[in-house]
Amino acid sequence: MSNYHIKHLEEYYQVYRKSVRNPEAFWEEIAEEHFVWRKRWDNVLSWDFSKPEIKWFEGAQLNITENCLDRHIPTRGNKTAIIFEPNDPKEEAEYITYRQLHERVCKMANVLLEKGIKKGDRVCIYLPMIPELAISVLACARIGAIHSVVFAGFSSNALATRINDSDCKLAITSDGSYRGSKTIDLKGIVDKALEACPGIENVLVAKRINSTIEMVPDRDHWLQPLLDEAYGDNVAEIMDAEDPLFILYTSGSTGRPKGMVHTTAGYMVYTAYTFKNIFQYREHDVYWCTADIGWITGHSYIVYGPLANGATTVMFEGVPSYPDYGRFWEVVQKHKVTQFYTAPTAIRALAKENLEFVEKYDLSSLKVLGSVGEPINEEAWHWYNNNVGKKNSPIVDTWWQTETGGIMISPIPYVTPTTPTYATLPFIGIQPALMDENAEEIKGNQVEGRLCIKFPWPSIARTIWGNHERYRDTYFTAYENMYFTGDGALRDAVGYYRITGRVDDVIIVSGHNLGTAPIEDSINEHPAVAESAIVGFPHDVKGNALYGYVILKETGEGRDKNNLRKEINQQITEQIGPIAKLDKIQFVSGLPKTRSGKIMRRILRKIASNDTSNLGDTSTLLNPEIVQEIMDNAL
Ligand code: WT7
Repeated sequence: MSNYHIKHLEEYYQVYRKSVRNPEAFWEEIAEEHFVWRKRWDNVLSWDFSKPEIKWFEGAQLNITENCLDRHIPTRGNKTAIIFEPNDPKEEAEYITYRQLHERVCKMANVLLEKGIKKGDRVCIYLPMIPELAISVLACARIGAIHSVVFAGFSSNALATRINDSDCKLAITSDGSYRGSKTIDLKGIVDKALEACPGIENVLVAKRINSTIEMVPDRDHWLQPLLDEAYGDNVAEIMDAEDPLFILYTSGSTGRPKGMVHTTAGYMVYTAYTFKNIFQYREHDVYWCTADIGWITGHSYIVYGPLANGATTVMFEGVPSYPDYGRFWEVVQKHKVTQFYTAPTAIRALAKENLEFVEKYDLSSLKVLGSVGEPINEEAWHWYNNNVGKKNSPIVDTWWQTETGGIMISPIPYVTPTTPTYATLPFIGIQPALMDENAEEIKGNQVEGRLCIKFPWPSIARTIWGNHERYRDTYFTAYENMYFTGDGALRDAVGYYRITGRVDDVIIVSGHNLGTAPIEDSINEHPAVAESAIVGFPHDVKGNALYGYVILKETGEGRDKNNLRKEINQQITEQIGPIAKLDKIQFVSGLPKTRSGKIMRRILRKIASNDTSNLGDTSTLLNPEIVQEIMDNAL
C-alpha cells in the first residue's frame, strides 16, 4: 500500500486513522519518500496553538524549486510543465517543458539577484495570467525571496497598501493585460500605486499588449532584454523548512488585509500530497485550474502542487465568456484536459447560457471535476455533473482557505462517494471539530456548529506578516487550542461535512473573499457620506452580492441619487477594485444599532435578502423605529 496515492475507500480510512493517531510518523514518511531534501529534519512537528507557534520539519533544508523543477529533468525534461492558453483563442498556445521552465526560472532568478534581491527580501508580483507570473513566483522561491502576488484586478490603492505592508523592494508587472475584449493598463495602475511606495527600488516590466507606457528612468526596466542577457542556470538558495516562502493577502472582517505567511517545507509537502490525491493525478494527465495565481488556489494548485508532482498544468489568461460562453469547453477539448477545477460562480454563469456551448465540444477526456471558493448549490452541482461530467466524472467540492494553504475537506474522486453540496470527509491528517456557542465541541453526527481544526497540518499559515498578535486573535482565541476557520458547517448522519458559509463579517462574492470593513471605509470617504453598512444577499450567479446602506451628510441629501450611487461604486473600484462594487445602494436616515453602538447586521441582512417575516427581537435597539423605514424603502 502506498500512503502517497490513495485508491479506494478502505485505504482512505486506514491512512486517515494512521495520520491522526501518529501524525509525526505519517508526515515523516510522506516527506521522506516523495521529496528531495538538502538536509533532513531534526524534528517533524512542534506546536502550541496558544502562542501560536507551529513548526514542521524543523532543521530540514531544501529548495522548493528543486522539488518542482530540477528533480524532474532527468525523467521528465521534455514533458510539458505549463500549457499557456492565451486570452485570444487565435493566438497560439505555448507549451513549456520542464527543462525550458527550469531555464526560464533560473534566468529570472539571476535577473532578480542582479537587481539586488536577496534571501528574505519581499518581491511584489502584479501580473496577468501569463507564463512570467508562474516564472516570477518560482524565481523568487529559487533565491529565497518572499513573493507577494497581488491579483491584477486590485486597484492601485489596494496594491500600494499591500506593497507597503510587507516592505517590498521590487515589483514585477507588465505593460498591460488582456481580459476578454478589453485591455487593462496595468503599468498605469502600478505607477499610481508607487507614488505611495518609497520602498520599491526597481520595477521589472514584461511586455504583453505592446502598449505605449511610461518608463521611469532607473526604476523601470523592460524584462525581456534582462532575461536575454541572463545566465540560464542558477544554484538554488538553500532554505530552512520554516523560512517564509510567500505572503498572500486575504481580507479580514475588520481593518487592513492580512498578509498570510506560508513557509517552505510543510507547504510543499501538503500541497503536493493533496494535489496527487484530490485530483487523482496520473503521469499523462493534463490538469487545468481556472483560478488566477493571484489567489491561494493558483499558488497551491496551478503552481506548487502540480509542479511538485511533475504534472502538466494549464495557465489560462482569459475569461469564460470570451469569445463566447463555450471557451472553457473549447480549451478542455483542445488540450484534452483530464482534471478541471473551477468556482461555483463560473458554473452558475455558464449554466445560464445555451447548452449548445457545452454540447459542441468533446469533453470525453475529463476524469475529475473540482469546485472551490464558496458553497456549491445543488442546481449548479447537477448542471456541472450532468453537462460537463456527463455523470462520469466525480465532482470534488474542496473546502479550504488562504490560511490553510491546501485543501482540507474534500472527496477523493473514485474513492469517496459524493453527495451534492457536501465537501464530504476531512482529508488525510485533518481533524475538524464543530463548536457550539459555549465553546464546547459538538460530538456525534447530524449536528451543526462552527468549524474548527484541532491539530496542525503541514501547510497552515504560520503568522500574519508583521502582526502575530492579530494572527492569534483572529484564529486561535475564539476556541481554546483550536484553529477557528470563520465558517459554519454541519456534519450529517454519515459524518460528511457541508459548509454552510461564513459566520463573521466576511462576504464571499463570486468566490472572492471580501471584508465589510474596508468597503465601508472606502464608502465613508466619499464627501457626501456620513456612515454606511454593507451586507451580503443571495445572488443567482455571484452566490452573494453586496447591499450597502448609506447615510448621507446634509450636503449629500439634495444630490441625484443615481449619480451618488455611481460615485460610490467608483470610489470602491479605485480603492479596492471592481470586485467589491455594490449591487444595491439604499440611502437611509439611520442604521439599526444596539445600545452599545454596534450595527445590527442580522436585521440588515434579512432586509437585503427580502426575508423580513421574522426579524427577531428589535426592541433592544437604540433606534427600533429605523427598521420600518429601511424596510419600506428596501430595494
Ligand atoms: C473561504 C476562504 C481556498 C480557495 C479559495 C478561497 C469559502 C472555500 C469552499 C467550499 C464552501 C468554501 C469558505 C472559506 N470556501 N471553498 N468548497 N465550500 N465554502 O480562499 O479567499 O481564503 O476564502 O471560502 O467560506 O472560509 P479564501
